[in-house]
Amino acid sequence: MNELKIEKLDHQGRGIAFLDGKVTFLKNALPNEIVLGKIIHSSKNYNIGEVVEYKKKSESRTKAFCPYYNLCGGCDLEHMTYEDSMRFKKEKVENILRNSKVEFPKIEIIKNESPKEYRNKLSLKVKKGTIGFYEEKSHSLIDIETCPLAKKSINDCLKKLKTLKIQNGAITVRSNWNEEVLLIIQTNDQIDFKIENFSNVKIVGVVQNGETIYGNNFFYERINGFLFKVSYDAFFQINPYVTPKLFSCVINCIKKDNVVLDLFSGVGTLSLLASKSAKKVYSIEIVQNAVLDHLENIKLNHITNCFPILGDAFKVISKIEKDYDTIVVDPTRKGLSEETCQFLLKSDVKKIVYVSCNPMTLVRDLKVLVTAYKIEKFYLLDMFSFTHHVECVCVLERR
Ligand SMILES: C[S@@+](CC[C@H](N)C(=O)[O-])C[C@H]1O[C@@H](n2cnc3c(N)ncnc32)[C@H](O)[C@@H]1O
Repeated sequence: MNELKIEKLDHQGRGIAFLDGKVTFLKNALPNEIVLGKIIHSSKNYNIGEVVEYKKKSESRTKAFCPYYNLCGGCDLEHMTYEDSMRFKKEKVENILRNSKVEFPKIEIIKNESPKEYRNKLSLKVKKGTIGFYEEKSHSLIDIETCPLAKKSINDCLKKLKTLKIQNGAITVRSNWNEEVLLIIQTNDQIDFKIENFSNVKIVGVVQNGETIYGNNFFYERINGFLFKVSYDAFFQINPYVTPKLFSCVINCIKKDNVVLDLFSGVGTLSLLASKSAKKVYSIEIVQNAVLDHLENIKLNHITNCFPILGDAFKVISKIEKDYDTIVVDPTRKGLSEETCQFLLKSDVKKIVYVSCNPMTLVRDLKVLVTAYKIEKFYLLDMFSFTHHVECVCVLERR
């Protein structure tokens, strides 16, 4: 056991201390705390420790509200106040930008007005009848009956999942603005689904291994005044409180008569919203059902100037007509490819709006893009409250 002083936090919100000069990461430890720590993993360059006792606690320490917090690998900032978690996120993004020597304007912070009960999707594992989340960096499953970050409709559903009598597999629970619930199940077991076992849960569909076994394989989501069909395997932003603000940050950059290309467009959320001010919107998305939803969403919302394309954005971008002047990109955590960044540099696109859920890949791509573009606006949105994850919107204008 070693007495350790926590100096600062790393990007995952873990405390950093130094043991005989070697950097040591400790979960659930805050700057200026003094702890007794046990080293549970040691490598050439760093140690991973576990706090056994807090000798001196930080004033910003608060009691975690999740009963599984110390076990579950899901969230990692519940031991600090919401305000401190936001300060941590801002400093983290600023440090990543500064370390990469990328010049950036003042970061505008957009908070989550409901930092608990916000998630509209939970993905659970099932092992030998236990339904839950993995312990951090482990394959042992914690039996979860509630997740304080998820919407009430999802928690009501969680309590009934055992009635499905699944032994092994995975269950995703999704819920929309109307508290309707879609169950997406991967299992080779016989599912014992009875709607009467889900009293007080508005189940609209159950999908097993891609086959609809009850109701529909989609639901509708309502956001920013638009209605969207969302198939079981199509992406939708997970936070209904922050998503409208995220969409507004993007849409406010689109001017009348802009021709927009929306890369990684999902069911067409940003395309449809942009179509109100833009002349035309092209989009590229790789998931077939998402593109089919997009086509239906165009009709549902009486839009006439959106043109979705099914395909791999990294490959299709160089093949489509180049009459767009504004690009919106909202890639997965992997970010853009080197070739796509180079393609954008050589294009005469005036504006790039980069939406990112991973600041590391965002900054990697910005380092290339800033050679021809200037960052005009930078927003940090608290899409994933009480976890170390952040959502960023970066608006780049051609120099
Ligand atoms: C973060 S989501 C953004 C969706 C949309 N902008 C929204 O906010 O609803 C990323 C999307 O990129 C899609 N995607 C992933 N890889 C892709 C690729 N190589 N080409 C095109 N789309 C891709 C995913 O299916 C997903 O719909």
